[in-house]
Amino acid sequence: MNNYSFYDQLQMLEPKKDEFSKGERLRAMEKPLLSWYKGHARILPWRENPEPYRVWISEIMLQQTRVEAVKPYFERFMEALPDTAALAAVSEDRLFKLWEGLGYYNRARNLKKAAGVVMEQYGGVLPASWEELKKLPGIGSYTAGAIASIAYGIPVPAVDGNVLRVISRVTGSREDILKQSVKKQMEDLLLGVMPREGAGNYNQALIEIGAIVCVPNGEPLCRECPMASVCIARRDGLTKEIPVKTPKKARRIEKKTILVLDWKGRTAIRKREDSGLLASLYEFPNEDGWLEEEALAETYRVPLTAVRCLPEAKHIFSHVEWHMRGFAVELQEKPAGDYLWVTPEEIRETYSLPGAFKVYTMST
Ligand code: ADE
Repeated sequence: MNNYSFYDQLQMLEPKKDEFSKGERLRAMEKPLLSWYKGHARILPWRENPEPYRVWISEIMLQQTRVEAVKPYFERFMEALPDTAALAAVSEDRLFKLWEGLGYYNRARNLKKAAGVVMEQYGGVLPASWEELKKLPGIGSYTAGAIASIAYGIPVPAVDGNVLRVISRVTGSREDILKQSVKKQMEDLLLGVMPREGAGNYNQALIEIGAIVCVPNGEPLCRECPMASVCIARRDGLTKEIPVKTPKKARRIEKKTILVLDWKGRTAIRKREDSGLLASLYEFPNEDGWLEEEALAETYRVPLTAVRCLPEAKHIFSHVEWHMRGFAVELQEKPAGDYLWVTPEEIRETYSLPGAFKVYTMST
């Protein structure tokens, strides 16, 4: 008896030279991956009942948000808007309220737009075609692949960041996974090797192993991985180097002064412009740059004691960071301006203020 595990022994048998093609490696890992998934798949609401509408909504929510954070939003959304017709008919304000806290509001905007198209062109049912799904607003090749495979069983890949990482490691690819061309190559590769039956489980197994074993941050849990025996990154000790990602450009930093204006127990909010960052959402009045208490007292014609410092806050968007300083101002006269004067309850129940303003929402 020796102390080597089954996987270690397999790896000793495997010559160092990579004489297997990428496709062969991927075919070799299919069975162990699927049987691992059977035993380890998390029970998730959209998996229990993978109707096209539910898969669509869950996949859009999961694009930039963690599974645990998505669950309560998903359940609430399904109750409020149970089908494409309800989504197509909902007001933007109500939709944003349901989306509040998930961020990246363009996702919600596109959902409503796409629901309109599905009602008009497809009789309210998402098309059972990768190509047709990709034409809908907010649905790229990943989401189209996920809906087509999970809801309709169509054998097409669903390559997201998890899958890019897993496949790069298994095949030892040092290509930059942030490049569109690399993603396309991986889709083509998977399209050629994935099983014709059970495509939904196959894609979800790859996503799942990327989320809980071949993890994005920190050491992957190779000892628990059913694909360890065929994985080149593991064999060659390259899990730190693979996947390769070229660093992104640094975000632009914008200083902002956020104003929580109080007039007779009501707070001023206003609607943002209908394009650009946080388009059409509500916000507290704010100014570019960091203003001083004295300047604010003068602008709003109040004594300095009516201006109170609020906490500083930072919010990170994809290309910009807001570095915010906030002030509460107790007004004596109602200022001119296109404001809505709302109660704290209305801010909680009716108007959606994006997460960027969370610290200041708590000050109302
Ligand atoms: N992340 C993206 N899609 C997912 C899915 N279907 N299940 C779990 N995590 C996911």
